[in-house]
Amino acid sequence: MSEHPILVTGATGKSGRRVVSQLRAKGLPVRAAARSGEHVFDWTDSGTWDAALEGVRSVYIVQLDGTKLVRPFIERAVRHGVQRIVLASGRGIDNPEYAKDSSGVLEGILDSEAATRESGLEWTISRPGWFAQNFSEGFFADAVRAGELRLPAGDGAASFVDAEDIAAVVVAALTEDRHAGRIYELSGPRAVTLAEAAATISEATGREIRYVPLSVEDYVAELVRQGLPPADAEAFADVIDPLREGKDAYVSDGVQRALGRPPRSFSDFAKSTAAAGGWPV
Ligand SMILES: NC(=O)c1ccc[n+]([C@@H]2O[C@H](COP(=O)([O-])OP(=O)(O)OC[C@H]3O[C@@H](n4cnc5c(N)ncnc54)[C@H](OP(=O)(O)O)[C@@H]3O)[C@@H](O)[C@H]2O)c1
Repeated sequence: MSEHPILVTGATGKSGRRVVSQLRAKGLPVRAAARSGEHVFDWTDSGTWDAALEGVRSVYIVQLDGTKLVRPFIERAVRHGVQRIVLASGRGIDNPEYAKDSSGVLEGILDSEAATRESGLEWTISRPGWFAQNFSEGFFADAVRAGELRLPAGDGAASFVDAEDIAAVVVAALTEDRHAGRIYELSGPRAVTLAEAAATISEATGREIRYVPLSVEDYVAELVRQGLPPADAEAFADVIDPLREGKDAYVSDGVQRALGRPPRSFSDFAKSTAAAGGWPV
């Protein structure tokens, strides 16, 4: 399949960007697609799908949360002769007790997983837990830069997974034959509390980052004072619930199963991110 470009959607995001660079490091041709990517692709404009899929045999699918566009996209991919797909999903998706779905993304992701399994193609599903990169590029990054992580997470812990490992699993699934029909649940090697995460980043950056546990009510009130609509503030609080409740503290073996090596630790993530200038002041 190597003369055909590999299509990477979400190519500017936390996992997709790393998948693009790891594939290119192997000398493989890549079509890096996103609205602001090298190849312009918009989930909400199906007129951009054919040009993205032209001549492609393998695709990494980073869906647009809150939609059911993966199913028609896979149908289109089949018509283009795509043979292999790897879907970005999430841990907890098959557990109705995992979290409140106030932002309405669960139904779409479940439909994407079903469409992937029913596609008739070679498929692999990546189900990562909380990304370590939420502290450097995502949800918590601004708070880390400001030196104070104010969250309703109590002393809950999560087995944060490094997006470099997520990308390595995706690259293996895109390029090797033995991952077809597998669902890989991905985590780091052990659970890390928010206080421990803050201390580890403090040590790596040489700057003090404090974790301040808040009640859910105080957290929502702070976000509303910062200008967020109350419904959005509640939705953010709901996302933190599983963290506080320790529902993401368990360790999954997907990195070991897919790559034959253990996952990177949170400390390795913090050191390498700090060394790469990932937390500019
Ligand atoms: N963060 C976590 O801890 C976590 C944990 C488990 C699962 N997940 C799941 O992982 C997925 C997110 O993956 P990620 O963190 O790698 O991505 P991400 O960093 O959130 O980036 C999203 C990517 O999608 C692209 N995108 C956004 N809107 C688009 C549109 N309308 N059309 C085409 N592309 C669009 C963005 O690029 P442009 O803006 O340039 O288009 C970007 O490349 C989500 O489904 C999320 O639910 C996340």
